[in-house]
Amino acid sequence: MTHRPAVLMATTVLVGLVPATASAQEEEGGSPSPGAPGIGDPYFPLDGNGGYDVEHYDLDLRYDPGTDVLSGTTTIEAEATQSLSAFNLDFVGLDISELTVDGRPATYTRAEGELTITPERPLREEHAFEVVVTYSGVPATIQAPLIGPSGFIHTDDGALVIGEPDVAATWFPANDHPLDAATVDVAIAVPEGLEGISNGALEDAATEDGWTTWAWEAEEPMAPYLTTLAVGEFEVSEYEADGIRFWDAIDLDTTAVPFLPPPEDPAAPPPPAPEPVSVVDQVRAALARQPEIIGFLSGVFGPYPFSTSGGIVDAVPELRFALENQTRPVYAPGFFADPVLADTVVVHELAHQWYGDSVRLAAWQHIWLNEGFATYAEWLWLEQEGVATAQEQFDAIYTGAPPEFWQVAIGDPGPDGIFDIAVYFRGAMALHTLRQVVGDTAFFQILEEWATSRAGEAVTTDEFTALAEELAGRDLDDLFQAWLFTPERPALG
Ligand code: TRP
Ligand code: ZN
Repeated sequence: MTHRPAVLMATTVLVGLVPATASAQEEEGGSPSPGAPGIGDPYFPLDGNGGYDVEHYDLDLRYDPGTDVLSGTTTIEAEATQSLSAFNLDFVGLDISELTVDGRPATYTRAEGELTITPERPLREEHAFEVVVTYSGVPATIQAPLIGPSGFIHTDDGALVIGEPDVAATWFPANDHPLDAATVDVAIAVPEGLEGISNGALEDAATEDGWTTWAWEAEEPMAPYLTTLAVGEFEVSEYEADGIRFWDAIDLDTTAVPFLPPPEDPAAPPPPAPEPVSVVDQVRAALARQPEIIGFLSGVFGPYPFSTSGGIVDAVPELRFALENQTRPVYAPGFFADPVLADTVVVHELAHQWYGDSVRLAAWQHIWLNEGFATYAEWLWLEQEGVATAQEQFDAIYTGAPPEFWQVAIGDPGPDGIFDIAVYFRGAMALHTLRQVVGDTAFFQILEEWATSRAGEAVTTDEFTALAEELAGRDLDDLFQAWLFTPERPALG
């Protein structure tokens, strides 16, 4: 990812700033000091913030596709984890018209995506507080050279939010790091006739004065980047299967360029580029398999961790990704031009509901715990579909990957390497090797125990390897050292 400036902002600690109420404060957890501008992620030092925990975000917003302007109010319920004279939120671009803390106007400054708020009175440690930010503006889209647009994307009929690791701060003030998960309610007002889709369950859709407000409630805490929004014309289907409530949203204008079979004569001039065709039927068919896929994954990983599910496909031809938005992944149209990819990308994003969303990263360095696991889920699925065995996937990459592939130590891939293809494939290969070494019984016990015992928690690679060793009853240091931390191709055992 190249969209992040490599700026390490100096942490200014205001030594000696003693407010009038200092003596009372000191008795309860020390004198107030400013919360850190970052939550402590070595890769992304300004992501998230220190000194408090968010419990809940309430977004009450309006989006006008005619002007691209997003406006409204975000209310944040949080708890101070230290005595705070000031604290930060991550918030990029949009103009703030009003900001209160516990109902009183607070002063604030902004720089580098950091919103620094000084409440009228310091916040006591363990004190629950409420921040209300009213704002408006045109959210900025993230553009990265090879991967195209992500973040808050303005579409022909509305908008689509899909980004990782950065996106939340471009449309709502947040403690923008997976370490601080919170419940999220999104009420989005859109011009009558359009849909507004977000995470969780649809609680209400009411029209007044030409605007329809769609109210969504996600009852399980989520990392801020997993909050999504899709505005536009969608076919929305609501249904229930196996006790899970599904909402799917499909833009009926979704098209993709069909995949061509390789030419019979490689020397012949390439045929003209094919025209995009509608993939709506393929999208419907793939999303229709979600209950079956969740059933398959539950059988391997343990119960589905959330009460709702579903998928979003918007007609955004330039989008090249899918993302595991909690309870409601977003898929790029291109995946649906190929019948095998169409199902496996759904498997991948649904597997992330266990690994990535429910069990989430304590720091971005541990990204293979998301991507390697979701990729291995694809291999398990393809094996039971009779397409290819996990061993065949492993062998093809082991012999076919280019030298650069083996230079990525996926346990610490660096901030620019978190989405390197090796994080996905070598991560899955590390799990496959673990399976061969410890055997199927212990391996699947490790996967399930990891998902269930750490549900709702932030995790690290060390915690995973410790659990694997404990359940396998043996030392696995050489295996993990070779597959996660050595920038060369591991020898086969
Ligand atoms: N985590 C996503 C997946 O594996 C991929 C992804 C990486 C992504 N960076 C992104 C998606 C940026 C959207 C935007 O499915
Ligand atoms: Zn993924």
